[in-house]
Amino acid sequence: MPYTADPKFADFIQRLPKTETHLHIEGACPFSLLQKLDPVKYASPPPFWADDFRYESFNQFMDMYVEYCAEFYNSAKRYQEAAEIVLKKCVDQGCRYVETSFHLPALLYMEDKGPDVIEAIRSAAPESLELRIFAGMCHNDYVDAGKELIEDSLTWEGLDGIDLHGWEDIPVEPWTADVWERARKAGKFAKAHAGEFMGSDFVELILDQLKVTRIQHGVRSTENQATVQRLIDDNIALDVCPISNVKLAVNGIPSMDKHPIRQLFDQGVTVTINSDDPFFFGNSLSEEYYALNQDLNFTQAELVQIAMNGFKVALISEDQRAAYLKEVSGYSEAEGVPR
Ligand code: ADE
Ligand code: ZN
Repeated sequence: MPYTADPKFADFIQRLPKTETHLHIEGACPFSLLQKLDPVKYASPPPFWADDFRYESFNQFMDMYVEYCAEFYNSAKRYQEAAEIVLKKCVDQGCRYVETSFHLPALLYMEDKGPDVIEAIRSAAPESLELRIFAGMCHNDYVDAGKELIEDSLTWEGLDGIDLHGWEDIPVEPWTADVWERARKAGKFAKAHAGEFMGSDFVELILDQLKVTRIQHGVRSTENQATVQRLIDDNIALDVCPISNVKLAVNGIPSMDKHPIRQLFDQGVTVTINSDDPFFFGNSLSEEYYALNQDLNFTQAELVQIAMNGFKVALISEDQRAAYLKEVSGYSEAEGVPR
């Protein structure tokens, strides 16, 4: 890291139609906007962009989130300014479909309302991009005004889905399964983070309790073959973020060449690759593809398969899905020269 590629391979990845289905808008905060706000504080690049930087813990990562980004995201306008840069960068990298989440309780400290923030993010999307917007919440956010906010969010027309994120080791409270079920009934897609800082048992707990069909991360599922088999049998997709996992020093992933996405992919789990929080990892979607090629020997044909998985899990009509899949597979035949 940062990953670079020879021009032919970089061009192949650039033109490959791709998706990004695991992207926190706050964690993608454009550095240029922070610098504009406080040129002195942000005079030099943040330490976590260094190649060999590793977070000591998820707590340290969350502290950085607060230190760098919490202040910035204080209005719908700020979300719009950030989203304009973030989503343009996605399109510039050949991304056709993006799912981004915003931290729902951030609204508790803002005058603007949820639908304003959603509209602000949506208005920033380039026309060529299919965008889906998710509200993210932590395991212990269903309390006081947070409870009202979560309930309210299920009625917001512009909201496409909800996501559970934050500290995985805080117990999953009983409200969660009920909210996830009611979200689905309200037409929202419901996903959840699991198997990043907790093991395969937690992945199973989330599947049992929240009945999700997509897990954010899920990489620690490989600690138990029965869990991997369940993902395959029940067609559960994992939205994986390889560079994030390495920089956050996820258990069992000391370096990219040890990343379990190779095993998951080989066994037939539907995996996608994503950048998670690009501001905090100094990564890009293209680099995720380079990393798999360079450190895990994914061939071009296999990377095409990963890109196709993104369109397989995307929240689009079946006609759109068929069109995207046809385009990507055609691309594979025309350009895919396995290494
Ligand atoms: N929120 C933002 N990034 C996250 C991550 N990697 N894991 C859990 N919650 C998050
Ligand atoms: Zn995440």
